[in-house]
Amino acid sequence: MIYAKIKATGSYLPEKVVANTDLARTIDTSDEWIVQRTGIQRRHVVAENENVVTMAVAAASKALEQASLTPHDLDMIIVATCTASQVFPATACSVQAQLGAQNCAAFDVQAACSGFIYGLSIAQQFIAGGQYKRILLIGSEAMSRVLDWQDRSSCILFGDGAGAVILEAANEPGVMSTHLSADGSYKDVLFLDNADVVKMQGNAVFKLAVKWLSQVAKQALEHNHMQPSDIDWVVPHQANIRIINSTVKSLGISEDKVIVTVDEHANTSAASIPLALDVGIRDGRIKPGQNLLFEAFGGGLTWGSAMVRL
Ligand code: COA
Repeated sequence: MIYAKIKATGSYLPEKVVANTDLARTIDTSDEWIVQRTGIQRRHVVAENENVVTMAVAAASKALEQASLTPHDLDMIIVATCTASQVFPATACSVQAQLGAQNCAAFDVQAACSGFIYGLSIAQQFIAGGQYKRILLIGSEAMSRVLDWQDRSSCILFGDGAGAVILEAANEPGVMSTHLSADGSYKDVLFLDNADVVKMQGNAVFKLAVKWLSQVAKQALEHNHMQPSDIDWVVPHQANIRIINSTVKSLGISEDKVIVTVDEHANTSAASIPLALDVGIRDGRIKPGQNLLFEAFGGGLTWGSAMVRL
């Protein structure tokens, strides 16, 4: 059996940091309210000359360096994003050009905040099927470009950044499972309107997120005949600390087994899991051989989980 194994990770965060106290100067909110309701303290925001392509290239370059690979070694580039600067060419094609990768396939995946898990599922199947050996999967988002900065119920939640993983064919696990789901009848609770601005019913999103994340994470455990105690680290989509904690509580997993970056990054949509993964690996908490549970939820509505042995 061929598995897709995470060989390396990389990430990029824009230099500019906006703290809650900065937001409280322009809208009717407070650091205390935001921290209490979301766990978010600050977020990174792109500069004028940055976009999803430049961030993706920066994250990918670090992953390639960590893997001691060159762009020519890649068979495929997948970018998960819902904030592409252009509908086409795909962000992945622009990334391919800037990296100088040749002779590889390149396309985008759009499943909002669940995009990384959807992309992981696609990449895993290309590798398990034997067609490709090395796939670069990136989540890159410039959420700050699609926010109404006067809407205090949504603009406080999001941030910008990119995370990348390189998946390589291996004969040991690997990505052990992915479970994907969607329910388009809830498309109106979280969406980009005609002016490309985020609209959200926060309360409805919150409740559905906790319910469906718990379900899809349990599916991952059952599918792999694993107990909550078998999980070394949960690397969740970073939307809200209360969603993260409620989900792991319902699974019977302790909060100290969760990689949390929502305080520093806010919700970076499809970039949040690979960003958190890179943080956990580079600071030494996540180690080779450990079992990781990824789970994400986003507009669509979409959600999914992945069980990964590093
Ligand atoms: N600062 C201060 N007050 C705020 C505020 C802010 N930034 N945003 C909203 N409020 C106010 C509301 O106007 C409301 O006031 P009212 O009672 O006078 O009408 C009050 O706070 C409570 O609002 P509510 O929406 O019920 O708060 P909440 O506890 O549900 O928290 C969210 C709001 C957005 C933080 C929360 O619903 C959430 O995180 N939802 C999930 C969103 C998400 O993760 N989306 C992305 C998914 S990928």
